[in-house]
Amino acid sequence: MSARILSGKEFAQQIKEDAAKRVEEIQSRYDVTPGLAVILVGDDPASQVYVRNKDKACAQVGLRSEVLNLPTATTRETLLQEIDRLNADESIHGILVQLPLPEHLRACEKEVIQRIDPAKDVDGFHPVNVGRLVTGEPGLVSCTPAGCLRMLELAGISIDGKRAVVVGRSNIVGKPMANLLLSRNATVTVCHSHTQDLASVTREADILVAAIGRPRFITADMVKPGATVIDVGINRIAPKKLVGDVDYDAVSEIAGAITPVPGGVGLLTVATLMENVVQAAEMQLAKRS
Ligand code: GUN
Repeated sequence: MSARILSGKEFAQQIKEDAAKRVEEIQSRYDVTPGLAVILVGDDPASQVYVRNKDKACAQVGLRSEVLNLPTATTRETLLQEIDRLNADESIHGILVQLPLPEHLRACEKEVIQRIDPAKDVDGFHPVNVGRLVTGEPGLVSCTPAGCLRMLELAGISIDGKRAVVVGRSNIVGKPMANLLLSRNATVTVCHSHTQDLASVTREADILVAAIGRPRFITADMVKPGATVIDVGINRIAPKKLVGDVDYDAVSEIAGAITPVPGGVGLLTVATLMENVVQAAEMQLAKRS
């Protein structure tokens, strides 16, 4: 039997429509249009595409968007100054520094993330927001895992009491994903490169999230029949060929539901960013009024 295909496009559309409604409510209540500032340092082509997609999504949901394109040679001091300026700007509700930073700034990535006001940290990368997620307080959550959770909820896939296995322990995806699933009462296991007999763990999963960064790493023998499989991987295996971390053709024969790559979770990330900007604006405006 073939799995239900969880199309990112459909869910992303729904998330953006909800965000657009909330933007209208903010405008009528506060006479303010929420604003996102994206800082892009350098001219990495992939980052330029991501930033353009974010800019387009802002226009779709009625958010104001500012892209600050700084030269590759930008110093640490200048970058921090720009963040300080945006932190103080009341018309900006969300700040995002596109990663990765150019080589000479790599060492201060943590400092850059921590300079952003946690209230405006729409990437959810600031330790204050990570702490809020872990302790169950309201805060901003990393977009990709937040998008996966929203998709499960919109798809009507129950999480409470289920066994969830997250493969990958990155700060951006694996760890926040595990915490989100835990917050919804799943029994959560996090696997990584040192996990022994990985397949015996993944086969227990009712919900399996793959965030490893290795093409087609999750094979059919690692998946429980009927499981929901969420593939966060985006691996380029040829100039025009993207595949996920899951062996889609084989796994879709036994899974109950599966996200494709491309066309799956990737589309949810930008949609969830829009939701985060709206949430940041709502929290800041409620505090000011
Ligand atoms: N580069 C790739 N993914 C991301 C992301 O989610 N946030 C930021 N800031 N940069 C990225």
